[in-house]
Amino acid sequence: MDKELLERTARELVSPGRGVLAADESNGTMSNRLQAVGIAPSPEARRAYRANLFATEGYESAVSGVILFDETIRQHMDDGAPIPETLSSRGILPGIKVDTGTKEMPHHPGEKVTEGLDGLRDRCTEYFAMGARFAKWRAVIGIGDGIPSEDGISVNAHVLARYASICQEQGLVPIIEPEVLMDGSHDAQRCFDVTAQTLDATFAECAAQDVHIPGSLLKPNMVIAGKGCETQISREEVAQLTVDCLTQHVPQDLPGIVFLSGGQSDEDATAHLNLMNTMDAEHPWQLSYSYGRALQSQALREWAGAGIDSGAASQRAFSHRAKMNSLARSGDWSEELEA
Ligand code: 13P
Repeated sequence: MDKELLERTARELVSPGRGVLAADESNGTMSNRLQAVGIAPSPEARRAYRANLFATEGYESAVSGVILFDETIRQHMDDGAPIPETLSSRGILPGIKVDTGTKEMPHHPGEKVTEGLDGLRDRCTEYFAMGARFAKWRAVIGIGDGIPSEDGISVNAHVLARYASICQEQGLVPIIEPEVLMDGSHDAQRCFDVTAQTLDATFAECAAQDVHIPGSLLKPNMVIAGKGCETQISREEVAQLTVDCLTQHVPQDLPGIVFLSGGQSDEDATAHLNLMNTMDAEHPWQLSYSYGRALQSQALREWAGAGIDSGAASQRAFSHRAKMNSLARSGDWSEELEA
């Protein structure tokens, strides 16, 4: 394991003012999102939308890395250049989603386990040769009646650590993503407790499997009430509970935390991150973003617009959200800048 390379890559991904763009929606998810805005899905439709996004001017000041899906890392920009090469040439690290999705966990109705370990070592070797320098694996922890079970948390933690150690052996920084979902009517305290339990289990497995924490990044949910909960908490409370939870349950030598947006509104995702970066709380890790929807939702709507200018409009929307989140890295975002 090349610890020096891993640490350098991890630090670069969370360098000041920058974060990660998650553009690694699986073919199924991306097709659904295109269809939802009226575009017929196809490999070319997915390529054209993303190539336009990746050609946006200047976003490298806000984006240190882009997570790609297997289809996309093999695709080309409009000028024929391979997508990972184009990103690298602009100082953006290409990343790759290496899990193959979630499946029902046997004997545990309502719980999921993420698949994709088979053949992972060889796939990582190939992705590294294609220019990838980091990877992502998403585990999903739902909250409901009797859910999550200890088993559900522990199998996902085990698999996350297996993934992380294989990636590190192959020179890829693992983004470790145990996502506690916002679906449901649970309150913020329940989200706090489940997130805490999930983080403890994940880092215990990482320790047991010798994952090199300074060469890893964590991609967690924020601590937030379920979408269906009657008692929603304020942005300030989300920021405070999230930092408290992370401070109590994340190792000190982790270089960075890159949040997922998980269905929050674009502005909430930015405001929460901004608040966390203005707090007095002492914490050793960088607090940054690895947003999918919160960076892309408006860009996708603009792409589907009827005008001949839809490519430029999509880039403007993406550029704006990237800039807003970049400012949130240092607590310099404010609501007026959204106008
Ligand atoms: P969202 O920010 O849309 O939750 O996506 C991030 C991600 O990559 C989930 O795996």
